[in-house]
Amino acid sequence: MSPKAAEPEALRTQILQCKAADILFEQPQDLGREELCVIDPASETYDALERASSILKKDRRPVVIPTETVYGLAAAATDSTAVEKIFTTKGRPADNPLIVHVSSRSMLASLLPPSYTIPPSYERLMKAFWPGPLTLLFPADPSKIPPIVTAGQKTVAIRMPSHPVARALISFSQTPLAAPSANSSGRPSPTKAEHVWDDLGKSAKVPLILDGGPCDVGVESTVVDGISAEDGSIRVLRPGGVTVEEMKTLLSEGLAPGESPVKVLVHKRDYQDADMEQHPTTPGMKYLHYTPSVPVVLLNLKNAQHPSAEEFEPLSEVMDDLLAKHQPRSEKLKRRKVGFLVTSDFPVTPGTHASDPEVVTFDLGPRNEPSVAAQRLFDGLLTLEKKGVDFILVEAIDEENEGLAVMNRVRKAAGDVRMVDVS
Ligand code: TXA
Ligand code: MG
Repeated sequence: MSPKAAEPEALRTQILQCKAADILFEQPQDLGREELCVIDPASETYDALERASSILKKDRRPVVIPTETVYGLAAAATDSTAVEKIFTTKGRPADNPLIVHVSSRSMLASLLPPSYTIPPSYERLMKAFWPGPLTLLFPADPSKIPPIVTAGQKTVAIRMPSHPVARALISFSQTPLAAPSANSSGRPSPTKAEHVWDDLGKSAKVPLILDGGPCDVGVESTVVDGISAEDGSIRVLRPGGVTVEEMKTLLSEGLAPGESPVKVLVHKRDYQDADMEQHPTTPGMKYLHYTPSVPVVLLNLKNAQHPSAEEFEPLSEVMDDLLAKHQPRSEKLKRRKVGFLVTSDFPVTPGTHASDPEVVTFDLGPRNEPSVAAQRLFDGLLTLEKKGVDFILVEAIDEENEGLAVMNRVRKAAGDVRMVDVS
């Protein structure tokens, strides 16, 4: 008997395929009524969603779901016993709150304090970007969402995912889902089912992974606080899939003469909040984030953004230095291996170097298309790590549009920053 067959059922991780084409969100004839979720009852997707729903509700365990941003580890948000298992599975500190995922506006309303009125800025943002990669903070009602989800904060983070599988599961199970990214705490977020398998599936830490294909956005949702500032400004706590530029454009449209737009401010770039920075609720502030098991080094290239004022080194010198500094991952291997996570516009071929380590390149796409870099970033870190490189060099990109979210993740992943002249 193979070792796998001998394992008890409960200790194995199942992967079930889900196809977006089997799911339809229909606008009903009656205006004002909400979209209906229709899942082809004869499809494997239906069976997979039924299985996931049963694990969520009957077994009260978390399951892995695809979203348009990254894969999530989801449990019924109203069930504190189930939510607790998210924290233990990931090794996540209890003071780091979770995002609640809803499938409809009425589900959102059911989670908010009864007397609460949604501000106009949120109405506009939701109309434009929901379903999608935008998380909004709302006042928390602990009688509806247990404090384990919010880590006892006064606010609860909520989003409506656009991935049909995520939204269909929430609708099918009629349960809002609390879901962080489906990685062990501190590691890069997974954007493919195989990333989750490597981290949580092989070791049977989760009962089920719904495979909905690679994530389109590739970085997590934008986390926005539009309720704390006295002037109603929008504070971006974590840049993500919805860009600051998109929100600014939307909020400056259709103003009355003399009316000024709601401000959109990025934490640490446009404002500081010393008090908030003490709290782990500020995404990515207190805890280690996005780090693979190999060192990551950020490369700032000499270019228009970084002209000659600072010290730049040739790439060959940086490589020699890093090869001396970082141990080979395996003593048995004769040749060193280095990962390059760089744009297709990287000015030199990374392999042409005197000390000749083996170079593995992962393409981040064209420099002027940061949405492609966003989609590929975590895949790149995880793929290069798996290929056994000794360290990963990541090219810095411009912090515009999706580039802001990309660089936010890369800076947290990188233990070292080098200024390189590759001209
Ligand atoms: O795209 C996403 O947002 C993914 C997918 C699965 O939906 N989820 C995700 O969750 O990235 P997680 O737990 O990895 O990141 C959520 C971030 C955390 O950094 C947390 O600090 C912040 O959101 N957050 C959650 N609730 C908050 C609150 N009440 N106030 C401030 N920040 C909050
Ligand atoms: Mg995460």
